[in-house]
Amino acid sequence: MKLWAKIGVLMSAILAGCIIAVLVFSHRSATAALLAEQDRVLLLTAERLAQELKEPLREGQRDALPGMLRGLQERNGGIAYLFVKNSTGSVAAHTFSRSVPEDALHAAVLRGGGQRSVARLPGGEWYQAGVPVETGAGDELFIGEPGQARNAALHALWGRELAAGTLAIAFGSLLCFSVVYRLTRPLQTVVQGIQIIGQGDLDHRLPAGGRDEIGGLAREINDMAERRKTTEDMIMKLNFELEENVEQRTAQLTAANRELEAFAYSVSHDLRAPLRSIDGFSKALLDDYLDKLDAEGRDHLKRIRKASQRMGQLIDDLLKLSRLTRGDMLIEQVDLSAMAREIAGNLQAADPARPVRVTVQDGVTGAGDRKMLRVVLENLLGNAWKYTTKQPQPRILFGMAGNGPSRAFFIKDNGAGFDMHYVQKLFGVFQRLHSDAEFPGTGIGLATVQRIVHRHGGTVWAEGEVGKGATFYFTLGRAA
Ligand SMILES: Nc1ncnc2c1ncn2[C@@H]1O[C@H](COP(=O)(O)OP(=O)(O)O)[C@@H](O)[C@H]1O
Ligand SMILES: [Mg+2]
Repeated sequence: MKLWAKIGVLMSAILAGCIIAVLVFSHRSATAALLAEQDRVLLLTAERLAQELKEPLREGQRDALPGMLRGLQERNGGIAYLFVKNSTGSVAAHTFSRSVPEDALHAAVLRGGGQRSVARLPGGEWYQAGVPVETGAGDELFIGEPGQARNAALHALWGRELAAGTLAIAFGSLLCFSVVYRLTRPLQTVVQGIQIIGQGDLDHRLPAGGRDEIGGLAREINDMAERRKTTEDMIMKLNFELEENVEQRTAQLTAANRELEAFAYSVSHDLRAPLRSIDGFSKALLDDYLDKLDAEGRDHLKRIRKASQRMGQLIDDLLKLSRLTRGDMLIEQVDLSAMAREIAGNLQAADPARPVRVTVQDGVTGAGDRKMLRVVLENLLGNAWKYTTKQPQPRILFGMAGNGPSRAFFIKDNGAGFDMHYVQKLFGVFQRLHSDAEFPGTGIGLATVQRIVHRHGGTVWAEGEVGKGATFYFTLGRAA
């Protein structure tokens, strides 16, 4: 309910209460006045009739009394009965219209007494006036009129009062509502304005000409809207600049990255030819000049070959890594359980003597580039396979952990594990926590895994404990 309607209802109710109180009060006095007037008229009538009877009775025409009463009644239609009592209190004559029942008349006669008075007979059906007839013999005239006539007049009065009251309440309420509405109109305009501004139209302004509190409120809100607009404009400008800056920086970074990758690629590529020569010629030296070298010379040569082969392996791995960051990704739903089983099968086939128990959870799928996901699983399962070599009962587990947005794929093993202090180093290129003698490798696998996971918008992390095994987790972010 609107404010103006609420105040209007309240004021109308107060007004109606006042009008009703005034009506009740005035009704009582109006009723009393009406009754008094009717009494006066009845008495006057009785006196006028007594005047008419006075002379004939003085002249001793008592036998003609019933006829005279009848005549009087005929000439005064409103009078229902008349009777005359003499000084002994007995009825000298009476007359009554048909509408007066005999017992009512009887009661009236019994009760009739007192000089110049109007009485309401029991039951309220009759009003009776008694006056002396100045014959000198103590005669009294009584006349009666039906109460119905008075009731009708009272009802008419009541009806007029009710109509006047209803009209006053209706008109007053209308006035209240229109006054309240006019008074609260500026407030409504302010409220509407606030809603418009609140919905985001910061250019909207409230009419703020008034000198009252509402005018002050409107000015305050206009100021606030102005300030908010200025702030938003500034934020928009800063945002725009920021976006421009980010775009510029991104473009610069992308260009720098591309150059760096091209450089790494060509260097690796160019390094291969001289390396192949070193390897080839040291092999030729070993094959053709073996007998001309002593044991130490042969050992040096063997070391040269081994080192050059390792360098070749490093260069190959580096090239693989740099290829992974280029090229488009083809995102599809991949059955990772099947892929993990296949890779574990290959590992077992290449190393049939090892008693590794591999458990793969069923139904694990993820959305991503199939070839890249294979590289991820090959690296993680390959590591698990490698780092459980010294464990008499090696176990590897692949599955899905957590649920909802925090769900992640994991590969867990009970192998050599690692020291959590160095967990940050794991994913760097050429970073290794184990020596080549202990577990051979180039230290590029996890860097590759991280790069692929990042390209999918996911994250990769690890938990481990020396001698107790390691768990590697990864998500596929938006792609999954
Ligand atoms: N399953 C694992 N258990 C223990 N250590 C691991 C495991 N996987 C990786 N690591 C540690 O992380 C290092 C980096 O791994 P990676 O990049 O795959 O290189 P590489 O396997 O060639 O050594 C490893 O040298 C090893 O120290
Ligand atoms: Mg590895």
